Amino acid sequence: MFSLKLLISILFYLISLSNQQQIPTRNYEENNYFLVELNTTTSQKPLIDFISKYKDHYKFEHQLNLDNYYVFSIDNSHPHNSFLGNFNSNNFNHMKRSSGFEDHYDELVGDVSSLHMLYPKKINKRMPVPIDSKRDELLQQQSSDQSNSDSDKAHQKLAVVAQKLDIHDPEFATQWHLLNLQFPGHDVNATGLWLEDILGQGIVTAIVDDGLDAEGEDLKDNFNAKGSWDFNDNGNLPLPKLFDDYHGTRCAGEIAAVKNDVCGIGVAYKSQVSGIRILSGAITAAEEAAALIYGLDTNDIYSCSWGPTDNGRTLSGPEVVVKQAFVKGIQEGRNNKGAIYVFASGNGGRFQDSCNFDGYTNSIYSITVGAIDYKGLHPAYSEACAAVMVVTYSSGSGEHIHTTDIKKKCSALHGGTSAAAPLASGIYSLILSANPDLTWRDLQYINVLSATPVNEDDGNYQTTALNRKYSHKYGYGKIDAYNMVDFAKSWKNVKPQAWYYSDVTQVNEALSLNKPQMLKRDEEKKIIKSKITVSKEDLKVMNVERIEHVNVIVNIDASFRGKVGARLISPTGVISDLATFRPGDAAGRGFQDWTFMSVAHWGEDGLGDWEIEVFADDSKSDPIDIKFKDWQLRFFGESRDADKSEKYELLKDYAAVRRDRIGENKQQSSTIESSTEFSSSTEASSSTTSSEEVSTTSASEEIAQSTSTASSEQVSSTSSEVSTTSSTITDELEPTTEPDEEGKNKHYTSDHTGQYLMGFAIIGFIIVLIIMKCHKSPGSLRRRRRRDDDYEFDIIPGEDYTDSEDDQETLDSRRRGANADSFDLGQRNDQRINKNDQINDDRYQDEARERLFENFNGETLPDYDDDMFKIGDDDDHENDENNTKKATSSSNEQPTDSNETTNDEEITDDRKIVDENK
Ligand SMILES: *[C@@H]1O[C@H](CO)[C@@H](O)[C@H](O)[C@H]1NC(C)=O
Repeated sequence: MFSLKLLISILFYLISLSNQQQIPTRNYEENNYFLVELNTTTSQKPLIDFISKYKDHYKFEHQLNLDNYYVFSIDNSHPHNSFLGNFNSNNFNHMKRSSGFEDHYDELVGDVSSLHMLYPKKINKRMPVPIDSKRDELLQQQSSDQSNSDSDKAHQKLAVVAQKLDIHDPEFATQWHLLNLQFPGHDVNATGLWLEDILGQGIVTAIVDDGLDAEGEDLKDNFNAKGSWDFNDNGNLPLPKLFDDYHGTRCAGEIAAVKNDVCGIGVAYKSQVSGIRILSGAITAAEEAAALIYGLDTNDIYSCSWGPTDNGRTLSGPEVVVKQAFVKGIQEGRNNKGAIYVFASGNGGRFQDSCNFDGYTNSIYSITVGAIDYKGLHPAYSEACAAVMVVTYSSGSGEHIHTTDIKKKCSALHGGTSAAAPLASGIYSLILSANPDLTWRDLQYINVLSATPVNEDDGNYQTTALNRKYSHKYGYGKIDAYNMVDFAKSWKNVKPQAWYYSDVTQVNEALSLNKPQMLKRDEEKKIIKSKITVSKEDLKVMNVERIEHVNVIVNIDASFRGKVGARLISPTGVISDLATFRPGDAAGRGFQDWTFMSVAHWGEDGLGDWEIEVFADDSKSDPIDIKFKDWQLRFFGESRDADKSEKYELLKDYAAVRRDRIGENKQQSSTIESSTEFSSSTEASSSTTSSEEVSTTSASEEIAQSTSTASSEQVSSTSSEVSTTSSTITDELEPTTEPDEEGKNKHYTSDHTGQYLMGFAIIGFIIVLIIMKCHKSPGSLRRRRRRDDDYEFDIIPGEDYTDSEDDQETLDSRRRGANADSFDLGQRNDQRINKNDQINDDRYQDEARERLFENFNGETLPDYDDDMFKIGDDDDHENDENNTKKATSSSNEQPTDSNETTNDEEITDDRKIVDENK
């Protein structure tokens, strides 16, 4: 009996260990899967209780490599399917309390911190960029350029570098991004580092993509197996398997193609690459989260050239569990210095897409990389936004990136921002190998402070608080590997991160344009403005010294989302364009709790009035309604006092923390401070500026708070065309979607081995008891089966129900979505797309396809219909409401404005409009 128990517990412990590395193969034909968040930080008891309580209904599958998250499955035909849904895992709560189900709802909801249904969806590689056919023209131009003496020098440099470093790779001379012979200077400037033997030694970059040809001659010596996993086909070797799985291999080649006789070399050719394969099939949010922290002990950098569809009408971001994975990555990766996440800004520039509408590039944890081309120009595809940090080289002006390929070939046609992000990752490998002590934020500082501005007459550069130039198109400029490494070598770590959340500020102002029944004078209001005032005390209690990233979380209703513009103006006058016009984005849902991110305010002290302006695109006479409901400002920056630094918790309400701390301060100071001069809360909360003022207001604020805690009003400036009143709400009015789960993640770094052993010993014991009871036999011969069956427990089955037709539809579609291959491609009927757009789409697609055919040089042709433009299942950030409903035909997923999309000045145009409105 005892030895059996021990055996079982060890067995389960081993399973749990291997499950940390592996997600068991799923069977979507028969099961639905869901993620349960349980507070197991200090004890495994909640998990054990949950498993035993629901054993007859839900089967425990495995633990995610993210603390507190556990995957369970339920039989497709189980009545609870109608009842289960998302709970606290995003803004859309699908758990329904309904007659006959109340008890069950209360019970389940009482047991878990969050619950998230895991329906498979496919993540997109960055949309392919049509191959441009100006090459002949370009070659002519080049022959005339060749007499140029700079070009001669570049040739000499190539010869010297190749000779000194013994480089014989046949394609090295064509790798212009490493050493540009035709347009000297338009390269990453890494050869000087190579001569100093800075080659990325010891750094591992995970290519989170469609696989990596780990057996290919050009990569195998730099392949890191330990950091690799195939989440699509569940195995440890992430080899490309589909005929078009070349994307990841090409990206890997840019970073770490070996110096040998095959193709070219990587920019950090002594660094290593691992492969995390997620793009070659449908995966769920659980795998996505697991992938982004896979091999966190091994991988330093995660290079990601994918994201929501770049079609100019998608608004989508990571699920909460994926955000949790990012947080774990930056907190625990690289021995707590933080993993580096690099994301391609996106290829939707032609469709006026913006990376501020992409929750991955928009994350403070990712370095967003845009593209410049062979001649240093902005390629039309490269998306601009306030989250763009830097740019680096990729396709455009008729040239592409030359790199390794699958099937023993070389590629001369890699491109898009998909190729820029890995090139940046390679350069970051060089930086990290030169200074391994850098944290994830240090690396971002180095980007901000040492990137080289390019094309300063273009891109609307502004001068920032750090006296750096910032452009939404080019970020802080291009990354010059030599200069950045030089800068990084002597970089001293910044102090730990600190953050400030403002209160959620209610605006509730509407704006309508071009309504037929409206009189001209009703249309006077063109801009809705609101401001949030940040006081010295606010920042002091939150330990914030200066800003790095700014988040703006908005709720804006709009009849046509693509016609909403929004921008943030800092107290120092730096402007972040948050929402830019996207003519193709006809969604009527506006922005619900959408988080915009900006890196333009890096280095500001944050004090004073932060103003947001929301306005409409009035360039056409279409009617538009906008209602700006509320917003919140969040700063992430450097702490004042490193000793007071805290561990960030994603779901904690730090606005409440700030209010509490200010309250405490006031209690301490109120005995000596007079509060009579400030009689109203209005003055208190809107007074901003000097330190003397702040120290006296603290007392008055306490009075204000004790007398009217409900809301303190801020009157915004009346100097401009429109003045609005915004009130700052306090605790009672705080949105309830983000639960306050303080302390939940406090012990991230603790070693759980002992707990697992204990936990699984207890589970093993329970199992033995169950076996004894039910089967009256030790069941030692049934061990294998037991693994599958014995986690099923009993609770009362519920009834199938939903609240409304809409929910029914959603649930139905979600259930369909649960069958991995049931995406209804081609069945989308989106009324928002009119017929003309449709025709244009088709034409665009045909043209693009032809160009691809013409230019693919017999390389594997991507299956355009089935892959490259596939699955706009995340048409909106509400995507998980109805993944399948929105799974779309490839043609419908085409951008809607192809006839107007060759212009890469759109962002500029938007800006002009913005400026006019100003
Ligand atoms: C490029 O690298 C060289 C060293 O190889 C360095 O002197 C130079 O400043 C770097 N940047 C530019 C723009 O030349």
